[in-house]
Amino acid sequence: MEKNKGPAPGHKRDGCPGLPPDFDLADYTRTPMTDWFSPKVLLATGVRSLLSKLFAAYADRRATIAALRPAKSFDDWKDRDHVWVDYVADLGDGWNSTYSVAWCLAQPNQVVEIDSKKEDLPRGDILIMGGDQVYPYASAEEYKKRLVRPYQAALPCTPPGEHPALFAIPGNHDWYDGLQGFMRRFCQGAWLGGWKTKQTRPYWSIQLPHGWWLWGVDTQLVDYIDQAQVEFFRKTAAGMQAGDRVILCVAQPSWIFAAAGDAKLHRNLAFLENEIIADRKALLVTTLSGDLHHFAHYKTKNDVNGITRHKITCGGGGAFTHGTHHLPNPIKLDEQGQTRTYTRDEKQLPDASESKRLLWKNSLFPFRHLAFAGILGGFYLAFALALANGGLLGKLVSIPLEVGNLAQVFWMYIKGTFSHLWAFLFFALMFGGTYFFAQPDWRSKPGLKRVPKFWGGLAHSAMHSLFLVLLLWALSHWVEPFAPDWPSAMKFSLTVFIAGAVGGGVVFGIYLSLSNLLAGFHRTEAFSALRGANNKSFLRIKISKQGLVIYPLGLKESERIWKENPDSGENKSWISPDGKGLSPYLICGPIEVKNL
Ligand SMILES: [Fe+2]
Repeated sequence: MEKNKGPAPGHKRDGCPGLPPDFDLADYTRTPMTDWFSPKVLLATGVRSLLSKLFAAYADRRATIAALRPAKSFDDWKDRDHVWVDYVADLGDGWNSTYSVAWCLAQPNQVVEIDSKKEDLPRGDILIMGGDQVYPYASAEEYKKRLVRPYQAALPCTPPGEHPALFAIPGNHDWYDGLQGFMRRFCQGAWLGGWKTKQTRPYWSIQLPHGWWLWGVDTQLVDYIDQAQVEFFRKTAAGMQAGDRVILCVAQPSWIFAAAGDAKLHRNLAFLENEIIADRKALLVTTLSGDLHHFAHYKTKNDVNGITRHKITCGGGGAFTHGTHHLPNPIKLDEQGQTRTYTRDEKQLPDASESKRLLWKNSLFPFRHLAFAGILGGFYLAFALALANGGLLGKLVSIPLEVGNLAQVFWMYIKGTFSHLWAFLFFALMFGGTYFFAQPDWRSKPGLKRVPKFWGGLAHSAMHSLFLVLLLWALSHWVEPFAPDWPSAMKFSLTVFIAGAVGGGVVFGIYLSLSNLLAGFHRTEAFSALRGANNKSFLRIKISKQGLVIYPLGLKESERIWKENPDSGENKSWISPDGKGLSPYLICGPIEVKNL
């Protein structure tokens, strides 16, 4: 059971909380990246995902929230000369990655090099969290461990009058508890360290200076905007002037999905632009999203009014790193009755070649996912015993271990499988499992001829079959599986189990990588298996009378060594980097939208 250490975030804040008396650095820093292949996580996430989707379809919680809590739009910053906004999404995972980003966001400023000049970028007056604030699923304990602790330790408090505000929209992982934890954390005026929450619903509107607006949209798990939310944005838009500009925060990059034919979310979001924003003669110029855990930027050419539109995915807040090598370019989108062409900035994080290189680390799959490898080992053993019982080993032992005999051996395995009931059942179980697991994920690779799920499952089964038969062939010569004594039987079983766990795990990892590279399969699984804590990103945004400037900031590596900060206090983190250090760099841009 996780120890309940550190002050709880509350509605009142008297002074600045120092280090808790029972502060233990290890309590904070030991949270690992989520193991997405852990049987416990797979089961718990699957059940929660199913339940939340059922409730999303039959009992939309947003209706209850809308009935109980008044909607608020915020204009606290509209008369300022300029305002800074920070954006982070897909956070709340392992300590090293989540805290590396939280620490960068919390410092009073970040100095980055732009065109060989140092530029000082101060901490945002507003922090936007763009979805998936917790992994693997929302619960009070996970929010505390993976979100509250790192952000509280990064910025324990801020001086009166300087409290930065915090706004969040929910991603699918926040919805997995029916939004209970999200509502408590973000919609009841609580603090997250030195950041103060203000919103009352999972969507919000902020009026910024110089005709700029920031809207956060909640599309729940069913990709649509409910009626109460539409009414809220319509009412908010009544305060807009012609020529005002909107920055939209959404939980998923609908433009990536729409580019490959899954346009449902994009169509639903387009409603805001077509029916509400355009109605006020205002302009949607920038859309920000997480969900894909990388940084990628798309933009249009200037239109007749000199407007360039931007779509940015920046989901690098702490969760495992997604690849970028399948991202489409260009993207053509039907927007406002015309086709707009968006081209991708060649600078991404990670870049496409690193994204492909990372995949090969999946060959170490069994060592990152021990429990899953153990299940594979158990399956290999059961299947091997069924084949041995069917007499396959007796036949294999008579075939010399030579490459030229491989086809004969594989054919023998096929015959052995289909002529023995138990062996056939295990084969059917393997093919069924690999078939259901195969994820074509065609959305991430438009233009690629879609390879059906069936072939993914068959290729995966064939890879495991080949490894299993090679293993049995070798063992039939080396381990004396026919000796009628327990030690020999145990030796044989243990060897198959260990070889199945390690070798079967390697086969599994290689399948993930190859199927992703060759056919666009497993956009998520091929990268979640890596539990990648590097290549993190966030945005620092300035709105002034010149217009909007977005600074995409990246961390090639997360910090791994930490120390307690003896000097902690207002504006000072409890825990500081003590290894390579953290120096965010400008990934691309700056991205500018000038005021007219
Ligand atoms: Fe995510």
